[in-house]
Formats: sequence, C-alpha cells, structure tokens
Amino acid sequence: MALNLFGDTSANDHLPPILEEELSDEQVLKEAHKLKAELKDKMLILGHHYQQDDVIGFADVKGDSLKLAQDAANIDVPYIVFCGVHFMAETADILTPPDKKVILPDLRAGCSMADMADRSQIDKAWGFLTTATTEKIVPVTYINCAATLKSFVGEKGGSICTSSNAEKIIDWALEEGEKLLFFPDQHLGRNTCFKMGIPLEDMVVYDPNKFNGGLTPEQVQKAKVILWYGYCSVHQGFTAEQVRNLKKERPEVKVIVHPECNFDVVQEAHEAGSTAYIINRVRELPAGSKIAIGTEINLVNRLNHEFPDKEIFSLSPYQCLCTTMYRVRPRWLLASFRAIKDDKPINIIKVDEVTARGARLALDKMLSLS
Ligand code: 13P
Ligand code: SF4
Repeated sequence: MALNLFGDTSANDHLPPILEEELSDEQVLKEAHKLKAELKDKMLILGHHYQQDDVIGFADVKGDSLKLAQDAANIDVPYIVFCGVHFMAETADILTPPDKKVILPDLRAGCSMADMADRSQIDKAWGFLTTATTEKIVPVTYINCAATLKSFVGEKGGSICTSSNAEKIIDWALEEGEKLLFFPDQHLGRNTCFKMGIPLEDMVVYDPNKFNGGLTPEQVQKAKVILWYGYCSVHQGFTAEQVRNLKKERPEVKVIVHPECNFDVVQEAHEAGSTAYIINRVRELPAGSKIAIGTEINLVNRLNHEFPDKEIFSLSPYQCLCTTMYRVRPRWLLASFRAIKDDKPINIIKVDEVTARGARLALDKMLSLS
C-alpha cells in the first residue's frame, strides 16, 4: 500500500529499515560506501548542512537550500538521493525532468515549519486579504513549504525564496506590487524586511488559527508586509538573553545566527545569514576567533571539528537539533542504494504535474533572480 505522510505528493512504499540484527553500524557504512561507488553513474547524493556527519559523508554535493535546488536543476543521472527533508526532495523533483527520480531515504523526514501553512489556509487568507485591500499583494513563500504552496505563488505571479536570497526576492516583490504576503516563516520575513528598511509598524502577522488571521481590513490596508504566523521550532531555541549574556561575559566572541531566529536574537547578534553564509564567515574569520553560532547543532559541531584553530560553539546551552533532518540515517541510505541497484527504487518523491507546473514557475523565477 502506498504510504503518503505528506498529503500533497505521492510516494511509494515506506522502506523497511535494515535491522541491527542483520548488519552492524560498521557493516552498514561499509556496504553503503561500496554501493555508492558502484552506482556513481546512476545517482547523485545531495546533503543539507544539518545532516549528521555519518550521512553528510556520503554527499556528492553539500549545500544550503538554494545551492541544493540549483544543483538538482542541473543533474544528469537518473537518481537523486536527497539527504535532507521532504520539501527539499519535492523541490528537486519539480526542477528535474520526469525521467529523473528523487528519493528521500526516510519518508518521515518532514519540516515542522513547512507544516504550519497548508494550501486551504493560504487560499482562505488570500481571499480575505485581497478583499480587504485594492492594492496589489505579491505572495512570496520561503522554500520550506509544501509543493502546493509553491504552486500557489506561481499561479499568483509571486516567487519563492531561501534564506540566501530573501532580500533579492522581497525587493523584486515590492517592485511588482504594493504589499508583500510572506509565509510560512514570520522571522525570516520580518528580519529581512527590517534589514531592508521597512519599519516594524508596517508589518502585521496573519495567524491562520484566528478569524481573518486576527486582522481587521484597516490593518491590512495600512500594512506593507503581511507575515504568516509560522516559525522553526529549532531556531526558536535561541534567545536574545543568551546573546546579551554572552556579549557581557565574553565580549571577544562573535555571534552569528540564522535568520530563522527571532527578531530580538537577530538584532542582538553581530551577524545573521543562511547556513552557507555562516560556513563562509567561519572560514573567513582569522585563526583564534571565538564564534557562537545560532543554528542547528549538527552544523555547529561539524564547524567546531573542521576549524580546530577557532573556538566554535552553540549559542544555546540546550540541544538545538532538527529531529526531522536527524531521521536520515546510513541504514536508510543503504536500503535506498540497494533498491536503486536492483532497479526497484523506493521512497520516490513525486509531485503531481498540475502542482509542479505552478511551483516550477515560482522556482524558475527564484533561480533567475538569484
Ligand atoms: P538554509 O540552509 O538555506 O540556510 O536553510 C536552513 C534550514 O532551516 C533548512 O530547513
Ligand atoms: Fe524545518 Fe527548522 Fe528543521 Fe529547517 S531546521 S528543516 S526549518 S524544522
């Protein structure tokens, strides 16, 4: 029976894990690396920076959401194995021709932020907002969302952004229309718009759990930016107080955070940017630098190991772990590789063509503006 945990896409049967009774962790890694080498002309492995070390070690391409989308669009092998989360695999499927197959090794690897907006909620919000104002609203979605939402922005002449290109895309959107509807991450929207010079008073939050999003037509008319009430539970773990304390106790430490963090955290931090930005900044800073990072813990720990001449640590004393990224394990990878080898691929992420068409419009817009 087809198991579809995400509603909007179809995926075939969920893989049985390769049990520990069958193979030890060491044996799994050994066989998976051997199969990866054997299948090099058939598959490309993409890995997001938040993946664990034993998984990212398999990646042919490592990247932030933008780079992974760009690379997926140019693949010339039949299979992409995506070590990341569901919306990333969907994006790769939308950007590749129908004869390429995208595999998500563990179908349970979703994104809690992406789940904070669905198509019916967006349609409802759009109905209210476009009735409340006669000014043109341009919708922009963060790439962390289901394909149906990407399709929505494509149909409405909007675009998609990642944390690497949000400023460029929002700039474009506000040239196209008078108002911006940004979903699902209120923080990326607020942080980026504020950086671009839009005051907080010109932004309102639409909460899909409230009648008319909790807004009056007058509030919509007055606002320049309408932010969706969504957030990343991992980046919510960082607080402005952590930054303030660190700056007081260790003023020599540079604080760099991801723009999915709260507004106050980003304001207190020295710098903010995507995972690619954070990695580049760590690389550029001179030996001996002390850097506190506000993003997912696997990336922070990896940077700490890769740059032993710098002191690199998490801004938060608590584990800021993306539990869904964490689901992809070498056992699942090996099961995917075995299935590809047998020409019986499993855990394929396939977006239906009608949804894909709208989403492709918006993704192409994003890629051309990037
Ligand atoms: P980037 O890697 O694009 O900065 O995105 C971070 C993230 O949370 C992915 O879900
Ligand atoms: Fe989603 Fe946050 Fe995990 Fe990124 S870190 S995949 S936004 S839950």
